[in-house]
Amino acid sequence: MSTTEINSRVNPAARTVASTQSEMTELVLPNDTNTLGNLLGGRLMHFIDMTGAMAAYRHARTYIVTAAMDHIDFIQPVHLGNLVTLKSSVNRAFNTSMEVGVKVWAEDTQTGKVSHVASAFLIFVAIDREGHRVRVPEVIPETAAEKRHYADALLRRKHREAEAARRKQEKAAHANSESSEPKSK
Ligand SMILES: CC(C)(COP(=O)(O)OP(=O)(O)OC[C@H]1O[C@@H](n2cnc3c(N)ncnc32)[C@H](O)[C@@H]1OP(=O)(O)O)[C@@H](O)C(=O)NCCC(=O)NCCS
Repeated sequence: MSTTEINSRVNPAARTVASTQSEMTELVLPNDTNTLGNLLGGRLMHFIDMTGAMAAYRHARTYIVTAAMDHIDFIQPVHLGNLVTLKSSVNRAFNTSMEVGVKVWAEDTQTGKVSHVASAFLIFVAIDREGHRVRVPEVIPETAAEKRHYADALLRRKHREAEAARRKQEKAAHANSESSEPKSK
């Protein structure tokens, strides 16, 4: 088999969402909780980052870094002794970046009741060993839900870009107003 053939198998031009799906389950222990016995938000964000990264790795098949945690909703507290299950998949790939969706459930080990407790969107950027950005394969959404997430990911990217441009303008205006203020002696 030629190197080109091997590369196209390892890193095809497009991958299905299903091929990126990842899952992790953790038991909430005392060290993970605050003084009320609920899972710390920062600990949950770490679990979210890890599970999101698993999906991004499966899509990019190279090194990745977290560029942004774009949105996170903490819907319900998670209690000491709960089982936390996180599921992730790549919603859409752009050039070198990917949006990953992560959904989190908590399970009461005594009753078996499962509740949706958090959701998040993260952006990962693919890089090589030297830190240069790497183009990622496209995403093939197959189900109706995957197609909806795929379309929404583009809207979120446009919203992020507009917000970044607004912040840049605001910063420039602030810098201009500071430089035009009279200097005190
Ligand atoms: C993320 C990082 C690689 C981006 O590098 P950069 O030189 O700013 O690259 P660019 O501005 O050209 O953006 C590259 C891609 O990342 C995306 N991106 C960069 N910053 C982003 C942000 N804050 N939110 C969403 N997307 C972002 C861009 O949209 C672009 O996507 P595309 O290639 O798919 O079009 C760089 O900022 C970095 O290394 N940050 C630190 C990452 C890190 O340490 N994470 C925590 C530990 S893993």
